[in-house]
This record gives sequence, structure tokens and C-alpha cells, in this order.
Amino acid sequence: MKILVTGGNGYIGSHTCVELLNNGYEVVILDNFSNSKKENLAKIKEITNKDFKFYEGNMLDRSILDTIFTENKIDAVIDFAAYKAVGESVLKPVEYYTNNISTVLVLLSAMKDYNVKKLVFSSSATVYGDPEVIPITEECKTGGTTNPYGTSKLFVEQILKDLYNSDNTFDIAILRYFNPIGAHESGIIGEEPNGIPANLLPYVCKVASGKLECLSIFGNDYDTKDGTGVRDYIHVVDLAIGHIKALEKLNKEQHGLFIYNLATGTGYSVLDIVNAFEKVNGVKVNYKIVGRRAGDIATCYSNPTKAKEELGFIATRTLEDMCRDAWNYEQKNR
Ligand code: UFG
Repeated sequence: MKILVTGGNGYIGSHTCVELLNNGYEVVILDNFSNSKKENLAKIKEITNKDFKFYEGNMLDRSILDTIFTENKIDAVIDFAAYKAVGESVLKPVEYYTNNISTVLVLLSAMKDYNVKKLVFSSSATVYGDPEVIPITEECKTGGTTNPYGTSKLFVEQILKDLYNSDNTFDIAILRYFNPIGAHESGIIGEEPNGIPANLLPYVCKVASGKLECLSIFGNDYDTKDGTGVRDYIHVVDLAIGHIKALEKLNKEQHGLFIYNLATGTGYSVLDIVNAFEKVNGVKVNYKIVGRRAGDIATCYSNPTKAKEELGFIATRTLEDMCRDAWNYEQKNR
């Protein structure tokens, strides 16, 4: 099976390409390096010892999609090509809506024209807004998103539902990621945020390596066990494997639109993460408690039952694995 992976050179995309290649899929990557380094392509080959086709371009450019669909018999698409920084999206809503929604419309129109009807879409737990019920199931209410990034994912989910209603020969899997962290166990690929990291684990890594002085923990007065925010962290390799499971589902089932949370089902606080990182890696992470970050919620973790029952997906890597692999990547690449 030949899979077009848009944004396949990025953090989650590159780990998914590794799993695809290791599972016998043929891979075609489209990426414009907007948030990834060109060297990643060679690293994917190094890990898998397998080759793939690569196209450089922006999905807004319909002609690049025409070229790809004409030159390759694509069976399914996994769409990772999006911006993902929550804070930045508040400052650049037009760029976020263009890059995260318009691109999908161009992709879907090309998929229709070339009769490619299987799609796995990267969505996010942010579509649940401030969740009313914890742990979160796929049936929980969506909406009330607090930033353009989350809203862009919510809108695309609606677009995909409308598309499926109009043509139920499509097979669509919407995957709502919780908090992906960690890196490939080889330490060859991992997360490469531009500039000062906005997310917790990349920031922790920079503090541990001495590149940043001190982690600011955003609030210790939440209604959680230690007052700091609780999230459902999932190892990026487990998340990547979730995409293989979703593809398998689309291949064997009757047509359908399916929605899954990809998560472990366990919530960890910011202090849990800091403590685990220090213990597993034998390093010190300086931190101070500061005020809450605007837009943050207290607790967000999933009920992973649906993905387990319908996809056979279970995230097996532990918090210790996540901390060890993130640090291994940091040490090998900085
Ligand atoms: N945090 C800190 N200090 C930091 C960074 C984060 O204390 O320097 C805290 C946050 O307040 C939060 C937790 O660490 O309690 C996790 O924060 P992240 O920024 O790592 O992740 P978020 O939960 O805010 O958001 C992430 C992704 C989104 C995705 C969402 C899904 O950034 O893209 O998970 O739950 F949609």
C-alpha cells in the first residue's frame, strides 16, 4: 500500500513514516520544511534502511498534489501538514486558518479528483475545549476551543464529517492526539522546536542540558493532586503506531468516519514529569512556580477504551520511557 504523508518530515510525521516503512508500507512524503530540518529525511532512511519518495512543496499549491497523484498510485493519505503552536496561533490566526484549513480543502479536492478516498487526519484533544467530563471519551462534547489552533482542528473535523455525509465511500479516521512527547529510541529523530520551546518536555530538556536556566511551572493552584496541570502524555512512537492501526481499520472495515483519542489514559502532573525526568536520567531540572498560563486547563486525560477495542491500540511505553528517550535525543543532537 502506498501512503502519501503530508508533513511527513515533522515530529509526529517522521516517527510515523518510520513505523509505516517498518510495517511494509510504501511512503511518499510531501513537506515544505516549515517546521522541520531537511536532515530528517536521511535520518528516516537511516533508521529503517528503506527508501521513499519525497516532494518539497506546500499543500496550498494544487499543482504539487497533481504531480504526486499523477506520478504515484496513492492508496491513502495521512495528513500531518499543519501549524501546531497554541500561543502563536493567537497572534497569527490568519496564517493558522490558512495553513491548517485551506490546505486540507486543497488536499480533499485533489483526493476526490484522483479517487483517493482513505484519509487519516491529525486532530487534537484541544477540540474538547475545557472538558466537562474526565477522563475524556470520544463522545464528549467538542467546541469551546480557546485558541485558533484548536478551532482550526475543530473546523476541519466538521469539514470531514460534511464530506463523509456527502460521499460515504470515503474512509476517514480522525485521531485526537493528547500530549505526544519523547523520541525514537535510537535517538536519531525527535522533537526539534524552533526557538524557545513552548511545550513542557522540550523545555525540560533544555533546562537539564543547561541551555535554559529554569523551567517556569505555570501555576500550582489548580484543583489537581499537587496543584500543577495534569495531562495525558503519550510516547511519540506509540502515537505513530496508532496511525498504522487506524490505516488497518480503514482497510478492513466497511466505509466509515471514525474518531479516536490516542492517549494512555493516565494523567501526570507537571511535577510528576519533572520528578520522573530527574530520576530516570540522573539530572537536575531547576524550576520555579509562576502564575498560570492563559488558556491552560487544569486536567486533560483520555479514556483510551475505544481505540483499544476498535483498533487494538494500546500505548505501551511508560513515562520513564518517554523521559529517557527525550533526553537521549537531546544529548545526541544538541
Ligand atoms: N507547562 C509548564 N511550563 C512550561 C510549559 C508547559 O508548566 O514551560 C505546563 C502547562 O501549563 C501544562 C503542561 O505543562 O499544564 C503541558 O503543557 P504543554 O504546553 O506541553 O501542552 P498543552 O497541554 O498545553 O498542549 C499540548 C499541545 C497542543 C495539543 C494539546 C492536547 O501543545 O498542541 O497538548 O492536549 F493540542
